[in-house]
Amino acid sequence: MLKKIAHYIKEVESFNSSDHGEIEQFRIKFLSKKGIIPGLFSEFKNIPAGQKKAFGNKINLLKNITADRINTLKNQIDTLHEESPLYDLSLPPEPILLGSRHPVSIVRREIIDIFSKIGFLISEGPEIEDNWHNFSGLNFPDEHPARDMQDTFFIEKNPDILLRTHTSSVQVRVMESEKPPIRKIFPGRVFRNEAISARAHCIFHQIEGLYINENVSFADLKQTLLFFAKAMFGENTEIRLRPSFFPFTEPSAEMDISCSICFGKGCNVCKYTGFVEILGCGMVDPSVLELSKINSKKYTGFAFGMGIERIAMLKYQINDLRLFFENDVRFLNQFRGDFS
Ligand code: PHE
Repeated sequence: MLKKIAHYIKEVESFNSSDHGEIEQFRIKFLSKKGIIPGLFSEFKNIPAGQKKAFGNKINLLKNITADRINTLKNQIDTLHEESPLYDLSLPPEPILLGSRHPVSIVRREIIDIFSKIGFLISEGPEIEDNWHNFSGLNFPDEHPARDMQDTFFIEKNPDILLRTHTSSVQVRVMESEKPPIRKIFPGRVFRNEAISARAHCIFHQIEGLYINENVSFADLKQTLLFFAKAMFGENTEIRLRPSFFPFTEPSAEMDISCSICFGKGCNVCKYTGFVEILGCGMVDPSVLELSKINSKKYTGFAFGMGIERIAMLKYQINDLRLFFENDVRFLNQFRGDFS
């Protein structure tokens, strides 16, 4: 008798089905009034007294296992139905949207790559600066109107702590701490108190460059910038240097390139002049070298600085500077795939 029950237990444990009808048949076979288990209970009275306990335990076990098995199989069917879309392996996967690099990052890397090829290393410095590194060390006299040009955000007054207005501040730090020859570029974020418009913003990015060595001449500056302009805007690009003024360079110049949009024919980007301004440059003023304790009798140098957004605007024909800072995906999506 106990053997028979053990045999039923095995049968119940190995029963499997995902069909409601089959499971119902199985339930009827074991649990209905005329089923196996009530049948076993009715035989109970014939069991000798000494075996009643063992028999009762076994039969209860069989009953519980049967009820559990039926529940488990029914639940399995239910969850399978709920989740069935997940199991449709023939469905195409959800598209994964890759991000894209910001145009300022793309152009920043490109400029760095170009100058790396001709031996320029990179240095970075703090965005919060003191008066010395942003102004005085660059030959800006205290009351010099050039300080107004920069429209500075001050954090503290006396001693002045401010948001750097250009990455020339990093040039000063490098000149103070390194010995010539120095050949470096300085990428970074700069801040100016400007009204925000299509052409101006209070935050933008610069890359400045500095080369100090014996016998560095204006011709070296010009060739370096010509190399850059051709690498950035194409082999046919022409450059034009116009005299300008910066407190830390003498002589100083502004560099224009032939308009990469109309190729010199005249368009609204170059205001029908055929040229667009892209950077400021000059020979490092000997007094700036001396302020950083570099012997200006032995060494000369050139420096230049450009706005990354300006270069990106020309490269991608973007006509509003604000687009760089608004993080509108409709704008950013257009640079997808440009991982240079
Ligand atoms: N620091 C200047 C600016 O921010 C750019 C510049 C750098 C000019 C180096 C000359 C030499 O406008």
